[in-house]
Amino acid sequence: MLIYLNGKFLPREQALIPVSDRGFLFGDSLYEVIRSYRGLLFEAEAHLQRLQNGLHALRLHVAEFEQLLEIARRLLTENNLAQAEATIYFQITRGAVFPRTHHFPPADTPPTVYIAVNKYAFNTDYLKTGVAVITVPDVRWSRCDLKTTNLLANILANQQAHELGAYEALFVREGVITEASHSNFFVVQDGKVFTHPLGNAILPGITRQVVFKLCEQLHIKIEETPLPAAQIAEASEAFLSLTSAEVLPVIQVNDKKLGEGKPGELTQLLQRAFGEYVESLRRR
Ligand code: PDD
Repeated sequence: MLIYLNGKFLPREQALIPVSDRGFLFGDSLYEVIRSYRGLLFEAEAHLQRLQNGLHALRLHVAEFEQLLEIARRLLTENNLAQAEATIYFQITRGAVFPRTHHFPPADTPPTVYIAVNKYAFNTDYLKTGVAVITVPDVRWSRCDLKTTNLLANILANQQAHELGAYEALFVREGVITEASHSNFFVVQDGKVFTHPLGNAILPGITRQVVFKLCEQLHIKIEETPLPAAQIAEASEAFLSLTSAEVLPVIQVNDKKLGEGKPGELTQLLQRAFGEYVESLRRR
């Protein structure tokens, strides 16, 4: 597998970063994940805009920013994934400088830029069966809108879900469900869709944005509102949105089945509309 690291295309085994890299030491780093549908880089501009916003917030500058998509496309081609289902992972850190300091390194320190492609690996059975989720306290910091690699709270939450046989962990902050460990969360009640408002408490998911667009097209009302965790079990349907799974039905929260304990109708309607949207982009 060929990867990109700091201007070079290298076999993965030869791609090494120094131990003084600030991504390794501090999590002083951002990432992004884009899905490629047989060469269609889905919503690539929106993903790059989010990355750009993050770089700005972290006061990071990447000289090859304009070339990132071109590099990703070359990696897909060189790894025989241009016509396959794949994901593209980008990570940018504040570079490597010794000795370690909390404040920024000298301004001329180049950031570490890493890009890798992978064959799509999501278990697509989940799209049909739906998944169970658990709720956990949201102990993350208050800039969850930034896609940083500081994911310890997300990892501990997701591992807890995994150990309980669930797919995801919903974060609860002040009695409200914000989002999940690696996805955004929606409920359906009385034919309407609800999700947490944008802001510092959630990642502005690109798939979430597509869900809004599809709801508009389908004349389904969608509202941004805090979702009280205590009322989730009463929802008739729920789903997650994430790059790797588009719209993923939720059929159980903790020990409680939602509705009839299977993917809801409106959720399935959105799944179909999502597939059609991707196909329409591919035909363009
Ligand atoms: N996760 N919320 C969190 C905390 C996330 O980590 C993600 C994405 C999302 C959904 O964002 P998007 O629709 O842009 O994928 C929401 C990625 C896929 C990951 O960590 O691999």
